[in-house]
Amino acid sequence: MANGETMEQGNEEAGVGEPLISVRDLVVGFGDRVILDHLSLDILRGEILGFVGTSGGGKSVLTRTILGLVPKRSGTVEVFGQDLDTLNEAQRSAVERRWGVLFQQGALFSSLTVKQNIQFPLRENLKLSQKLMDDIAYAKIEMVGLKCEAGEKLPSELSGGMIKRASLARALALDPEILFLDEPTSGLDPIGAGDFDELIRTLQQTLGLTVFMVTHDLDSLHTVCDRIAALADGKVIAQGPIETMMASTHPWLRAYFHGARARAVRSER
Ligand SMILES: Nc1ncnc2c1ncn2[C@@H]1O[C@H](COP(=O)(O)OP(=O)(O)O)[C@@H](O)[C@H]1O
Ligand SMILES: [Mg+2]
Repeated sequence: MANGETMEQGNEEAGVGEPLISVRDLVVGFGDRVILDHLSLDILRGEILGFVGTSGGGKSVLTRTILGLVPKRSGTVEVFGQDLDTLNEAQRSAVERRWGVLFQQGALFSSLTVKQNIQFPLRENLKLSQKLMDDIAYAKIEMVGLKCEAGEKLPSELSGGMIKRASLARALALDPEILFLDEPTSGLDPIGAGDFDELIRTLQQTLGLTVFMVTHDLDSLHTVCDRIAALADGKVIAQGPIETMMASTHPWLRAYFHGARARAVRSER
C-alpha cells in the first residue's frame, strides 16, 4: 500500500524503532532483596514508552539504574549503543548531557528560582554568557507553557502543576534526546494531568524526543504512550501497544487494565 510505504520510509529516515536504550538481563537488589531479576527492555527512538507495575515493584529503581544512580549486580545497560560500564568519566558526562530527567521526588532546588533551577545544568555543563543562559531559560519556560514571570519565582510560590512544568523545563535545559519522567502526573488533578500529558506529546513531536515515562495514570497510557511495558516480579511481563496490554491474560495486567478504575476511565472517554 502506497501510504504504508511512505510511512515506513518516513520512519526509516527519522530512525524510529531502533533502540536508544537496551537493558539486558539486569539484576538489581538491596541486601537480600532482589528488585529487578534479569530484566530486559528496549526504549526505541522516537517513542513514548509507558512503564507500569505494582507500587514498590522497582520502576524508579530501574529508572535510576539506567541513569547510573543505583548499582547493578549484573546485566548491561546500553545507551546510544554504548555500554555505560565501558565509558570513562568524560564519555559518561557526554552521555548524561543527552538525557533529561524528571524525578519522582523533589524535583527542584527550593532555594533557587525557576530560572536558576533551569540554568543549573547549563552552568554545570557549559560555559555560556549570562545573557545566553537567560535566553535559554526563558525559551524553556515558554516551551513548557509557563508565563515568563514564573522564572523569578521560588518553587514554594508555585502550584503543583507549575512545579512539574518547571521541573520539565529544567530537564529540557540541555536539549536532551531522551526524557525520563518518573510519575510526572502523580499529585495533579485529572485536568492538570491531562494538560501535562498533552504537553509531553507536543514536545515529543516537535523536538523529536524519546520518552520513558513511569506512570500509574491510565489516561496517560491511553492517550500519550506509543508502547507500554509492564513490570512484575522483577521482570517485564508484557510490552506492546495498549491493545496488546489490554488483551493480556496476566492477572496483574487484567486487574490493572480491566479493573474498576479502568472501567471509569473508559466511560469518561
Ligand atoms: N536505595 C535503596 N535501598 C534499599 N531499598 C530500596 C532502595 N531504593 C528502592 N528500594 C526498594 O526497592 C523497591 C522498589 O522501589 P521503587 O523502584 O521505588 O518502586 P516503584 O515501582 O514504586 O517506583 C521498594 O521495595 C523500595 O523500598
Ligand atoms: Mg517510583
